[in-house]
Amino acid sequence: REFGKFGPLIGAVDEGTSNVKFLVFAANTSEVLTYHQITLKRFSPQEGWIEQDALEILNAVLECIEVTTDNLRKLDINPEDVVGIGITNQRETTIVWNSVTGQPLYSAIVWLDVRTSNIVDELIKAKGAQCVNAVTQTSGLPLSTYFSSVKLKWLLQNVSAVKKSVKAGECMAGTVDSWLIWNLTGGNHGGAHVTDVTNASRTQLMSLRSLQWDKGLLRFFDIPIEILPKIKSSAEIYGYISTGSLLGVPIAGCLGDQQAALVGQGCMRFGQVKCTFGTGCFLLYNTGDSIIHSQEGLLTTVAYKLGPDAPPVYALEGSVAIAGDTLQWLRDGLELISDIQDTEALASEVTDEEEGSICFVPAFNGLYSPYWRKDARGIMCGISGKTRREHIVRAALESVCHQTHSVAAAMAKDCAPLGRLLADGGMAQNSLLMQMQADILGIPVIRPLMMESTALGAAIVAGRALRVWPTSTPSPPADTFSPAMTSEERDMRRVRWEEALGKCLGWTT
Ligand code: G3P
Repeated sequence: REFGKFGPLIGAVDEGTSNVKFLVFAANTSEVLTYHQITLKRFSPQEGWIEQDALEILNAVLECIEVTTDNLRKLDINPEDVVGIGITNQRETTIVWNSVTGQPLYSAIVWLDVRTSNIVDELIKAKGAQCVNAVTQTSGLPLSTYFSSVKLKWLLQNVSAVKKSVKAGECMAGTVDSWLIWNLTGGNHGGAHVTDVTNASRTQLMSLRSLQWDKGLLRFFDIPIEILPKIKSSAEIYGYISTGSLLGVPIAGCLGDQQAALVGQGCMRFGQVKCTFGTGCFLLYNTGDSIIHSQEGLLTTVAYKLGPDAPPVYALEGSVAIAGDTLQWLRDGLELISDIQDTEALASEVTDEEEGSICFVPAFNGLYSPYWRKDARGIMCGISGKTRREHIVRAALESVCHQTHSVAAAMAKDCAPLGRLLADGGMAQNSLLMQMQADILGIPVIRPLMMESTALGAAIVAGRALRVWPTSTPSPPADTFSPAMTSEERDMRRVRWEEALGKCLGWTT
């Protein structure tokens, strides 16, 4: 068929923890033609509980698609040139819904939520001491509040609507990708209940080897297999959009957002690493066809599987729970700043002598990689009467760099030292942060000019499934931030950080 001047187009739904976006890419050039973005709300009905409204997420996706296709028309581009879409999403966040009514049975329980802390303790106890790794060999993941397994267990134990609907054989469960694909492909009129291997690998219910729901894990967490979606590859047609301007367009790609960024950054070979600075901050190290189990607190996860018959590619992951969220807290919690964009200018006001005077560990809900301490809580050390908000903002940015350093150090021990870091994500727009990160790591940090790597990854897998995306593309233009800090200074900062970190452990039991 004849296409307009941009050739075939691929759409990407990027459903993150903080925002939903829909972007349209020209498959031939990877250029973003237009996009729309909506900010998502989060609710915290109790201390440590973090929820989102599953219908708000869905409606935001539908609205983003409509506004973006409208933008295409305004740009004189025919929306019919969109030949497929890919979906990428915040991982682990868990939704249950009724297959007959299509209604969610509870709020989406967000990955950051720690209501399952007691469940985790009970599971660890049941298996004897030192058993946070009770299921790591099969799932690649330690027992933690982070993953979908315990969230689903909580829902099945505590929500009567969920219990009833399981009994009636009408309960569907899944991560956000499943909820979106089911709804976009027809919902209770025949929607596809599916997920992809990357999202499934974050539920802690899938075997990394068989890439299927694992009977032992389902037994361990007491989850009925009937409520779970079918596991598919990351690049194939799951179904067709059943409503709106993209009616009939295939959904042909699906990846968890961090895996999507890995693909978007072109990290398709063993040893290539990217770091996405979003709500949290996530480093993924491509380990090819090897399932490497970390000795250093990293996760083993599926990176992608580019088609039903393609082999799986794995990754080691270091997950940092709180990165961009620190700045959101400064804005919404402390009301110390009015706009996150201002943080770069504010933090630049700190003089060289004052730098590093404050150490801030934002362990709001515990610490993830490489520590896995759910008993940790945030701490700020070094405050004096001279402390001003710019010092706190700078310390917040530095906290992201130190946490990334801890993960990079773990990767160096498990695999090999990183030679450079490919950065992306909303927070990577902050050039001061990128420079600070290069300084703390002591290696160059490289930031592509087009920073929507997550959406690009989703578009690439969908475009490959539909055979419209070129198999090789030239390296995109990028900014490089070279380390400029002396190693003595770096070591001194690290020591202070480690001291502060030690103080924040053991606040809750
Ligand atoms: O594992 C959680 C992760 O997928 C969330 O990503 O971009 O919302 O920080 P983000």
